[in-house]
Amino acid sequence: MTELTDIVGSREIVVVANRLPVDRVVGPDGSSSWRTSPGGLVTAMESVVEELGCLWVGWPGDIDEELAPFELGAMRILPVSLSTEDFEGYYEGFSNGALWPLYHDVIAQPEFHREWWESYERVNRRFADTVAAEAPADAIVWVHDYQLQLVPAMLREQRPDLTIAFFLHIPFPARRLFAQLPWRREIVEGLLGADVVGFQREQDALSFRFAAERYCGALAHGNMLRLAADDDGRQRSVLAQEFPISIDAAAFARLAESPAVQRRAAEIRRELGDPDTVLLGVDRLDYTKGIRHRLKAFAELLAEGEAPLGEVVLVQVASPSRERVAAYRRLRDEVEQTVGRINGEHGAIGRTPVVYLHQGFSRDEMVALYLAADVLVVTALRDGMNLVAKEYVASRSDETGVLVLSEFTGAADELRRAVLVNPHDIEGMKAAFLRAIHMPEREQRRRMSALRAAVSGNDVRHWAENFLRATEAMAAQRETALRDTAQ
Ligand code: G6P
Repeated sequence: MTELTDIVGSREIVVVANRLPVDRVVGPDGSSSWRTSPGGLVTAMESVVEELGCLWVGWPGDIDEELAPFELGAMRILPVSLSTEDFEGYYEGFSNGALWPLYHDVIAQPEFHREWWESYERVNRRFADTVAAEAPADAIVWVHDYQLQLVPAMLREQRPDLTIAFFLHIPFPARRLFAQLPWRREIVEGLLGADVVGFQREQDALSFRFAAERYCGALAHGNMLRLAADDDGRQRSVLAQEFPISIDAAAFARLAESPAVQRRAAEIRRELGDPDTVLLGVDRLDYTKGIRHRLKAFAELLAEGEAPLGEVVLVQVASPSRERVAAYRRLRDEVEQTVGRINGEHGAIGRTPVVYLHQGFSRDEMVALYLAADVLVVTALRDGMNLVAKEYVASRSDETGVLVLSEFTGAADELRRAVLVNPHDIEGMKAAFLRAIHMPEREQRRRMSALRAAVSGNDVRHWAENFLRATEAMAAQRETALRDTAQ
């Protein structure tokens, strides 16, 4: 196995993401503690940075908090603070009220406000200035996700010695949707400041290359974008390609083998009343995840007697997310009302068909849930990758269990042996749930072993290796070009 540090040689790594890998939580008594930040970005990057070591620049999750840099395992953490105004304009506003819905196929209506854009520019500038001041010479700066798309160009202006890579964890919108964005050219220019721009799926990379040609006059040759010459006549190329992200599959497999986790899984099933089939949904409470569609399909199966009370249970973990954004508040109300209605209509004393948990859990508890679940249901309307699907597969070392997976996730490109569904098609989804509930063990094993091979064949280390190799190759190319023009 190649060491990641061998790939990057003497270059140091700086990770830049909106969130730090840990979130600061202040208790009611004013005491503060740290917990792992929510979302797939941190899940994926955790094990990579553990191996590489890095400087991580990000927001600690609290408003108006000025924190000094500190060490965390192999990382040096450099907190960037957000004021109430930044939080409302940059984070809740432009990132999660405009970009998030636009990039997820306008499932919710994006809003475009000029003051949100100004705040987005201002905070991106703050991140870029912080990195410019702190990054060691010739470092690789690895910028992450939709909140920081202007950082690459802002950083390149100040620090041409750096190699800049960007990875988008969410989808890049199809051309007609991206065209709606009033600041589409600025966003593409921002990203083109990087040497490598990585995406989850081929179609994302394709849409971006189109946007780079259309709005910034770049020329695409395969995955490579050739930019127009700058004022000094220098030309630069940017690699825009898919690098589907993954998880630390071995770590999940190890946890799944742990006797304590297995005991907990058995206990969960007992606590659920020993049903024949446990269906499980695990999502951030987000409108992109298709939780309402899933509940609708399940409620109809209950009403039609196809998922009898006591025999089939749906456990829905919905971890709290972006709770001050109006669309998220509405979704929470709708989901909780629906769960209440289903349980009210179909439950009995001591038995509820849907067990709903609006909480986040530790990784141990998550793996215990994966082991306790006969079927994992991922019904996202749009999702960059969906790492939960991969976590379930990696945890099922006995090769039983069924993955029901939406076609609209990045994971569906790789996990072809899942039971694939279109979550907009309620009848189709009901049929898929029934198929999963009644799937013979032999078929489960055939499918699960193919799924496990796919996940372990492209785990997060493999992803990081590919991404860093491509970045290193682009760095070498840029340095040669610089030397040639200097001669
Ligand atoms: C997704 C995004 C991440 C984000 C996470 C949690 O995974 O790709 O960038 O950090 O959701 O969302 P939050 O808004 O709480 O950071």
